[in-house]
Amino acid sequence: MKRVITFGTFDVLHIGHIRILQRARALGDHLTVGISTDAMNFSKKQKKPVYSQFDRMEIVKAIAGVDEVFLEHSLDLKGEYIKKYKSDILVMGNDWEGRFDEFKALCEVVYLPRTEGISTTELLAEIRASASGLA
Ligand code: CTP
Repeated sequence: MKRVITFGTFDVLHIGHIRILQRARALGDHLTVGISTDAMNFSKKQKKPVYSQFDRMEIVKAIAGVDEVFLEHSLDLKGEYIKKYKSDILVMGNDWEGRFDEFKALCEVVYLPRTEGISTTELLAEIRASASGLA
């Protein structure tokens, strides 16, 4: 039984999120997802997510292949989460390439390529533009 763990905000879900979760799950038999809290997201990206941490957690939990979700309260606790959830593989998008190599002492660390051309930030900009008649 191989347990995979990944982390993210997963606000305003899009195809890039689905694909990384599916590819992460395909690397093992069980997938745990740490959902960034609203506070952590604010300190990381200086913005408040559209959906609350509890809604984001419920949405991600409902995706086929996601076995377990929890709230990630701090970037500094990643090692603790890896141990707590008995993870064999840490999966991150390659926007984080190299940033989590320190955890290779605890588990395998895999960076997967991001889906091109989409992000929550870009999506929200498009929605704003189309709502104001610019697109
Ligand atoms: N991800 C991906 N492909 C994308 C967007 C995100 O594979 N096009 C992955 C990220 O690499 C990360 C996970 O999905 O592992 C969650 O990313 P998140 O930061 O929540 O999504 P973004 O769309 O990048 O959000 P934002 O624009 O707010 O930074």
